[in-house]
Amino acid sequence: MSKGFIFDLDGVIVDTAHFHFLAWRKTAAELGFELTETLNEQLKGVSRIDSLQKILDWAGVSISEETFDRMTAEKNIDYLTHVNQMGHDDILPSVEDFLKKVKTLGHPIALGSASKNAPAILAKVGLLHIFDTIVDGNSVSKAKPDPEVFLIGARQLGVLPENCIVFEDSVAGVAAANAAGMTSVGIGSEDVLDHADFIFKDFTEFHPHFIDQLVTT
Ligand code: BG6
Ligand code: MG
Repeated sequence: MSKGFIFDLDGVIVDTAHFHFLAWRKTAAELGFELTETLNEQLKGVSRIDSLQKILDWAGVSISEETFDRMTAEKNIDYLTHVNQMGHDDILPSVEDFLKKVKTLGHPIALGSASKNAPAILAKVGLLHIFDTIVDGNSVSKAKPDPEVFLIGARQLGVLPENCIVFEDSVAGVAAANAAGMTSVGIGSEDVLDHADFIFKDFTEFHPHFIDQLVTT
């Protein structure tokens, strides 16, 4: 039976989670607030608008709608200066081999990301072609931890949610996958992603029969 494989982008396929952190840290500094790596965990998987709102809440600062729009625009410009340096070598270790193996075994693949930059990033690293469908920040109305992004992905792949496996590096994303009734594979630290069904530091840690295990359970 075919399973649906759904991958988050930032922090799973490429290390852009770090670029988001660097850019938001600048925004926070402009507001007189220090964004730590620990707090940043709560921004992972969260939309651009919700991320700035969280920073404002933490900083205890309120700004006009105009400043809000300027700050999200500037954050994205800063973020894209990092993204523009990216190429095929920036795909995280063992990710491309894993995607190819899933494809060779005949399982459809979706992207399920909150990012509006997702298609451009996939094109830059040369992975756009491998996805059967892309659900990104332009096509969802409810942000993770809402399961919408993954449920749309499953529907577009023609696979029932319970037969989908989601790869996620964020707390919000693992919660979204679990809420969708899918199997969740957390990529990152056990301390942060303890709600995932499986947790690995990165794709190099998957054992050789991990795909078989996922497909037969
Ligand atoms: C998610 C990231 O994938 O996309 C978040 O984990 C980010 O950090 C969100 O805020 C939105 O991304 P973008 O590229 O549309 O600003
Ligand atoms: Mg992510």
